[in-house]
Amino acid sequence: KKTIKEILGDYKKLLHHDITIQGWVRAFRSNRFIALNDGSTINNIQIVVDFENFDEEIIKNIKTASSLKITGEVVESEGKGQDIEIIAKKITILGDNFSEEMEKTVLQPKKHSLEVLREQAHLRFRTNLFGAVFRVRSAVSFAIHQFFNQNHFFYMNTPIITGADAEGAGEMFGVTNFDLNQIPRDENGDIDFAQDFFGKKTNLTVSGQLEAETAAMGLGRVYTFGPTFRAENSNTTRHLAEFWMVEPEVAFNNLEDNIDLAENFLKYVIGYVLENCKDDLKFLDQRFAEEQKQKPEKDRAKEGLIEKLENVIKKRFMRVSYSEAIEILLNSKENKKGKFQFPIEEWGADLQSEHERYLVEKHFESPVVLFDYPKEIKAFYMRLNEDGKTVAAMDVLFPGIGEIIGGSQREERLDVLKTKMQEMHVDEHELWWYLDTRKFGSVPHAGFGLGLERLILFVTGMTNIRDVIPFPRTPKNAEF
Ligand code: 4AD
Ligand code: MG
Repeated sequence: KKTIKEILGDYKKLLHHDITIQGWVRAFRSNRFIALNDGSTINNIQIVVDFENFDEEIIKNIKTASSLKITGEVVESEGKGQDIEIIAKKITILGDNFSEEMEKTVLQPKKHSLEVLREQAHLRFRTNLFGAVFRVRSAVSFAIHQFFNQNHFFYMNTPIITGADAEGAGEMFGVTNFDLNQIPRDENGDIDFAQDFFGKKTNLTVSGQLEAETAAMGLGRVYTFGPTFRAENSNTTRHLAEFWMVEPEVAFNNLEDNIDLAENFLKYVIGYVLENCKDDLKFLDQRFAEEQKQKPEKDRAKEGLIEKLENVIKKRFMRVSYSEAIEILLNSKENKKGKFQFPIEEWGADLQSEHERYLVEKHFESPVVLFDYPKEIKAFYMRLNEDGKTVAAMDVLFPGIGEIIGGSQREERLDVLKTKMQEMHVDEHELWWYLDTRKFGSVPHAGFGLGLERLILFVTGMTNIRDVIPFPRTPKNAEF
């Protein structure tokens, strides 16, 4: 059995041979030409049907969206835009199409809005757009594993159910096997987690970082790649309640090594997609161009999608300290004229996505790595700098996206870490195992987290994060 991608890629060997293919009908023109697609590529294969040679019943059931198995001869095509076609000799209808119901779905061959496609997430895999997006997503995931493998990292799995709040931000989904109608209480009336499945309060992980750090303290270079859960109630085009995060953690790396790793990593993955997803990218590039045309001239992207990806891997990312960024923002026309929803008043302010996007899209016009943030606005585990005010944090900001990566050098000094945890109200006893790594051969180390879906947004030119994960989880939405 060969996929359409394999057949089209190697058709010369197949000329004048009979082959069997299976797929879904994308179109049936003039009762003669079937455009068949099997999902392996965005390209359809053309089947030529001489209807005199087939049962009327079969011809009647060749409808858009029905599934077929076809045996026929591979011949050179005279039609434009295709090298070969297949002269059908045998056609089997694998799956009929319930036409009346199909007409209400996104399988109906016409333009559907992204909102409607989202409501039929189970059917959108069948469209050109989502076929392209999800093939690219798969290629990105593969490239991520390949990059780390080539750089001698070990792939570590960290728990989905955990007792820790790795970010200390309290945005967790609890996990319990209590009957919610009969939750046991202790003598103070508090929930008695001692009686719960794990004998303690647990939640879905917000990050595998802390566990990855412990693994790096034995294996040197590790990375995690798994689902991550955040109960942040932000209904934006950049946030999911369930997303996939890639988290490398490297013993003996400092902040600068960490930034270098992040830059090389992103460029490798984007380069891989440019090299290996040409047909899908071409389609996405055209779609992106169409979308730009609908916008007022001033809002249009300056570069095409493919051009943007090529340029990102050519240029060195700008590296800018938080303090420099605040100066730039304070002096910006936007800030002075009150154009920001959250005006920047002084050093110490947390940066909102409008500020990040100003820096990346207006000021530098390049990906930017911001580093050395005030300690108050970053997580407890980040390494305190000499100045006593900032931590060795880094965020990678991308045009059109904002923050794509967040990371840091970690606090490896036990006493400094303990003080920091006290200041930030992180319970030392809960994280006794984490503190152990600072007691027995602690070393400088660093790592970061990449939000997979944000990277997919960037490489596909899509604008809503719900459109780059097969079944998005967002507030009030877990239909599938
Ligand atoms: O900046 P964050 O919160 O960092 C961490 O979780 C660290 N523990 C990572 C580390 O150093 N190992 O999240 C990392 C990235 C963000 O930059 C963003 O790309 C993505 O994860 N992200 C989300 N993506 C989609 N939906 C959300 N709700 C996200 N929250 C974070
Ligand atoms: Mg962050």
